[in-house]
Amino acid sequence: MPGFLVTFEGVEGCGKTTQAELLRDELKKHGHRVVMTREPGGTEIGERIRQILLDRDLGAMEPLTELFLYLAARAQNVQELIRPALREGAIVICDRFADASLAYQGSGREIGPSRVEELNRIATFGTQPDYTVLLDVPVEVGMERKSAGAAGAAERDRIEREELDFHSRVREGYLSLAQEFPERVEVFDGTRAAAELATEISGRITRMLEERSGKSR
Ligand code: TMP
Repeated sequence: MPGFLVTFEGVEGCGKTTQAELLRDELKKHGHRVVMTREPGGTEIGERIRQILLDRDLGAMEPLTELFLYLAARAQNVQELIRPALREGAIVICDRFADASLAYQGSGREIGPSRVEELNRIATFGTQPDYTVLLDVPVEVGMERKSAGAAGAAERDRIEREELDFHSRVREGYLSLAQEFPERVEVFDGTRAAAELATEISGRITRMLEERSGKSR
């Protein structure tokens, strides 16, 4: 059976990494083969690109430079990790994927979704998520969570340091993706208790996997 690609998306502090990890643990407990990755990152090359992208000591980065770096990390992740794992039938959980470039660079940096969409298609080699969890929180709530974290406001990375307007455009960009692709992108209220959310998300994915294996029989 072919693999299954689940992506987690949302603004800063939406709780997606926690949810991605809880989902991985739950699926593994039920005997599924799970591969976890993230963007930017996931591969050695991608993690090095991540260091450049998030370096808060770097000055202004041209939005297209930023976009191409995210795309470069993605191309590597797709070819080195995601596609081979999917080919072997694994469930791949990716903490951010192509939708993040649409929301952050397309809407946040105002490069425009159609240009980013075209470049995403090239960088992903046409690979699309089977299901996307969009954790929605007001940007103020997300930033507050980030400041309250161990690192605190002074430690915010290059993107987290952007002003609230930027993050609001990112949130709107994500929500319009959910409207555009309702069959793939599902919005969850990220302010809910983590354990409750995790149960709902894993239940949703388990049902999708069951339906799929029913169909393939
Ligand atoms: P993280 O918060 O999930 O670790 O992601 C790192 C940062 O990179 C986060 O601020 C979102 C940003 N990002 C983009 O701007 N475009 C992208 O395509 C991706 C994958 C992430």
